[in-house]
Amino acid sequence: MECDVAPVDPQELTVPVSSQFGGQALEVLLTQEQIQQRVAELAEEISHRYQGKCPIFIGVLNGSFIFMADLVRKLDIDFEVDFIKISSYGSETASTGTVRLLKDISANITDREVIIVEDIVDTGLTVKFLRNRMLEAGPTSVAFVTLLLKNEIAILDFSIDYVGFNIPDRFVVGYGLDVDQKLRGLGSLYAFKES
Ligand code: PRP
Repeated sequence: MECDVAPVDPQELTVPVSSQFGGQALEVLLTQEQIQQRVAELAEEISHRYQGKCPIFIGVLNGSFIFMADLVRKLDIDFEVDFIKISSYGSETASTGTVRLLKDISANITDREVIIVEDIVDTGLTVKFLRNRMLEAGPTSVAFVTLLLKNEIAILDFSIDYVGFNIPDRFVVGYGLDVDQKLRGLGSLYAFKES
């Protein structure tokens, strides 16, 4: 069966009315092309750094799943994957200041090279929690790769090894990031239009 889909003008995108943020307009912050080019650069850097090793990439659900899928398919090294699910936000657009572990990893990471994959580092609470948790298991190393970093907001006492883009303190959706669990499938990254 054929399915004709009219091309969407990204400038015209709004949040679905089913969401509590329904009807609000979005503007493009990063295009698909910008994202894909940067993901390829990150994959090259990581491949270079981990040449001859077999790191385990741990994706932080849900937001990282698209970034992680694109990133690992651009690597030219052996690797494994696992996932962890954390919650630092409810369904609000601001951090609650608490982090909950909702799903732990399955793999044994003792003596492994671990690379945590995040879609966004906002306040830094999640990566801080994850780093402490991973170090308890005695890995060889723990590195972080994030597509987005709110560098003016994040409070970190360690550096993020691989950052796709520094972004301003705006609520962003698309490329894995949601509003009310929706809009994760958008290829570009959008921000709520400021009125
Ligand atoms: C988001 C994002 C990061 C975290 C960053 O996850 O995916 O994991 O918040 O925020 P922080 O730096 O302030 O801790 P969220 O809890 O919204 O869940 P999701 O990935 O399922 O959307």
